[in-house]
Amino acid sequence: MPPTVKDAFIPGVKKNFLTRAIFFLACVVDAFFRALRFAGLKVIHRVGEFSSIPFPVVGDGKSDAQTGKGRHAHRKLDVILSHMPADVHRIVDIGSNNGFYAIGLAQRGYSVLGYEPVARFVSGANRILEWYGIQNVSFFQQGIDRENAGHLFASDVTLVLSVFHNWVRLDSWDGAIDILSGIWGNTRRAMFFELADTLDNRFIASFPTMPDMGGTTAECTAFIKEQILGRLEGARVEFIDMMPTDYINGSARHLFIVHRI
Ligand SMILES: C[S@@+](CC[C@H](N)C(=O)[O-])C[C@H]1O[C@@H](n2cnc3c(N)ncnc32)[C@H](O)[C@@H]1O
Repeated sequence: MPPTVKDAFIPGVKKNFLTRAIFFLACVVDAFFRALRFAGLKVIHRVGEFSSIPFPVVGDGKSDAQTGKGRHAHRKLDVILSHMPADVHRIVDIGSNNGFYAIGLAQRGYSVLGYEPVARFVSGANRILEWYGIQNVSFFQQGIDRENAGHLFASDVTLVLSVFHNWVRLDSWDGAIDILSGIWGNTRRAMFFELADTLDNRFIASFPTMPDMGGTTAECTAFIKEQILGRLEGARVEFIDMMPTDYINGSARHLFIVHRI
């Protein structure tokens, strides 16, 4: 008798009820563990208490953007890519969180290093690298402070996205500027810098060490440009745009690119 489609189902194995049942069970168990692994990744990277930014870009990378979750982060990554200077190889991401920007940039061919002090973010990001076989990113579990800021790996481009306020809170205003200057000293081409303002974001406005930035959004943009980025040596500062945020505090943040002159 010629083989049927059913015979091709498990080639070379004599079909009976038992083999079919075992095969079916194996498929169910396999699907269960695949779903668990995927859900585990999603939970680690999506639950609010862990991270407000979306699952790092893998596969088609647009599922979050399409469902609306984390769409602001996807848009910001696109804006960063559209402003990325030519001939950039090494990117350092300060405060890399769950790896969304670092992994997204690595998937476009850049070699990326992320610094992040929170262990569960670093281990979650490393699990993604391992599971998806991504090799051009490394994450270091390290917070940046005055002591180490000048001794990080050098980069063509550095990302300092919504991190500066942590230095103002934990150190001081001048300390935060020193830390940023140390990072800038190891940046060869450009730095993307983002910060919330004290008008829109009650959380950062509550820090005793955070100065008032102004009474309008435009004043706050000017404040960040002059009082923070204007203090970096050899820098030309360009305001990109107000970027809506997925984080719970405030509605939008000021995004700049700082070019080395
Ligand atoms: C508001 S999140 C921003 C994350 C990401 N850069 C973004 O824009 O979505 C701030 C991140 O900075 C990290 N962080 C806190 N203190 C830091 C420090 N001293 N050095 C580097 N990163 C720090 C936090 O753990 C967190 O992941």
